Amino acid sequence: MVRAATEADLDHLAVVWHDAWHEGHDGLVPEELSRIRSLENFRERLPLMLPTVRVVGPEGRPVGLCQVKEDELHQLFVSGVARGGPVALALTVDAEAEIRRNGFERGWLACAIGNERAARFYEKAGWVRTGIVTNQAITPTGQMPLEVWRYEKVLAD
Ligand SMILES: CC(C)(COP(=O)(O)OP(=O)(O)OC[C@H]1O[C@@H](n2cnc3c(N)ncnc32)[C@H](O)[C@@H]1OP(=O)(O)O)[C@@H](O)C(=O)NCCC(=O)NCCS
Repeated sequence: MVRAATEADLDHLAVVWHDAWHEGHDGLVPEELSRIRSLENFRERLPLMLPTVRVVGPEGRPVGLCQVKEDELHQLFVSGVARGGPVALALTVDAEAEIRRNGFERGWLACAIGNERAARFYEKAGWVRTGIVTNQAITPTGQMPLEVWRYEKVLAD
């Protein structure tokens, strides 16, 4: 059910990413970052990411996305209508396989401190919270340091 994203997905994907990002982050990250994360900001970032974005859902109407960067599960966002179903786990299993293909036995991810739904999901999927670290959020003018929960998982072959 997981496939590579295509150009036909871009507009809809930006909406899915924008809406899910705000549902998972507003009130937990600095207001300035929430302001920066406009629909246009997500739409502008997507084309460069496209070759590494994996999605679930029909072309042009995806309901979830995930991106891996080396050993990091970097983005995981599922639209409200598709939560509580198989989509998030399918994207995560696909991402874990990609991290293994990239040559890593252990993956990691960052989760906003206080994003309890995401934390519960990651823990159900076998990820373990290892502590609080400082991550860099990408902004149009550079980077913004953010304290986050770090999760790790040892990945089987
Ligand atoms: C994080 C996300 C991908 C998980 O996908 P999902 O389909 O919602 O995951 P699931 O429903 O399988 O699991 C979530 C769990 O959290 C539980 N939950 C829901 N709200 C919760 C809350 N406020 N506090 C704690 N747990 C909560 C659910 O009951 C479920 O646990 P259960 O299966 O034991 O009942 C999805 O919720 C999402 O896209 N959220 C918005 C964006 C986001 O936060 N992304 C992660 C960035 S790090």
